[in-house]
Amino acid sequence: MSNRLGLTALGATLALTLAACGGEGAGGSSSAGDENASAEDMLVGVSMPTQTSERWIADGEAVESQLEALDYQVELAYANDDIPTQAQQIDQMITQGADALIIAAIDGTALSSQLDAAAAAGIPVISYDRLIRDSENVDFYVSFDNFEVGVAQANALLTGLGILDREGEETDVTGPFNVELFAGSLDDNNATFFWEGAMSVLQPYIDNGTLVVKSGQTSIEQAAILRWQQETAQRRMEDLLTSAYNDGSVVDGVLSPYDGLSRGIITALANAGYGTDAKPMPVITGQDAEIASVKLIAEGTQGSTIFKDTRQLAEQAVVAAEAFLEGETPEANDTTTYDNGVKVVPSYLLPVETVFADNIQQTLIDTEYYTQAEVDAGQAD
Ligand code: GAL
Repeated sequence: MSNRLGLTALGATLALTLAACGGEGAGGSSSAGDENASAEDMLVGVSMPTQTSERWIADGEAVESQLEALDYQVELAYANDDIPTQAQQIDQMITQGADALIIAAIDGTALSSQLDAAAAAGIPVISYDRLIRDSENVDFYVSFDNFEVGVAQANALLTGLGILDREGEETDVTGPFNVELFAGSLDDNNATFFWEGAMSVLQPYIDNGTLVVKSGQTSIEQAAILRWQQETAQRRMEDLLTSAYNDGSVVDGVLSPYDGLSRGIITALANAGYGTDAKPMPVITGQDAEIASVKLIAEGTQGSTIFKDTRQLAEQAVVAAEAFLEGETPEANDTTTYDNGVKVVPSYLLPVETVFADNIQQTLIDTEYYTQAEVDAGQAD
């Protein structure tokens, strides 16, 4: 049994403490910060973008179970990657009397009226992994060091190509290597952070000719994949192969910012005959350690992914929600990086780890994120 839900000993202890001292609570949105309100009278609305990606399912379940372990009521909704659906779901949570909101936005700028309504009702809003932009009414942000994610992806690409060794030191391998670049959805604040982190590492190698982007598509606008859709990434890779590699040249590496995109890219490459001894798969990066991609990494089809422990992210969101609900201010570990266009949002950022085939055991199995059987099957229980 893997433990992606992350019911921690800390959570259990807090739940007992809360249960022991729980008094009669008022319920409804007025109870946030009311020290007489008990956890079971409080409702936390959790709004997640989509169930098409395994990571957001794990996130939603982890947040829900950790809140429930503290006795809070939880309303968890997935929005099918549809902006009006997400807005409507949040409106409904507010109407239901939510005392706090945890939101992973589809479009970081599309929820202003919901956030205004939440602020008017005194409901604290925690932005989950994706920063909500252009609003005063975002109270806290929990995420990872997103620039560092991009740096780690670029380093993994260079390591896979042999330009860097596993310690990050340059080898005498100088290429040139043909690479293509992918970015995430431009309405997601993270996409720019990932891209800028990656390009801070890759640009010098492009400038000195070690890496060659044969398509010439080197801007984030050209590389972006709307809504992080796997099929869109597959189509773009197909187009790149047809337009830039029809002269017998091959792709050696692909910067991909997310495992779902990586799988689309792999499908396009496999359909074009990559993945044989004569024409090996390029070195392909990823993010999220989704189980289908971990299997591909174990098999040697995908080069790497970036592991972001959703159990820990959920825990930080829950810790922050609990602080607000008890009338306190959550503890931030970054108060400078995440300017949402209106204010710098106090943040709690977690570290990330790069996963290659040879450290799946240590990073994902020893930590009980997945079992060996799940990795073998490419499917989580
Ligand atoms: C980003 C997130 C990534 C990945 C991507 C696609 O916002 O930070 O980890 O999940 O969305 O879902």
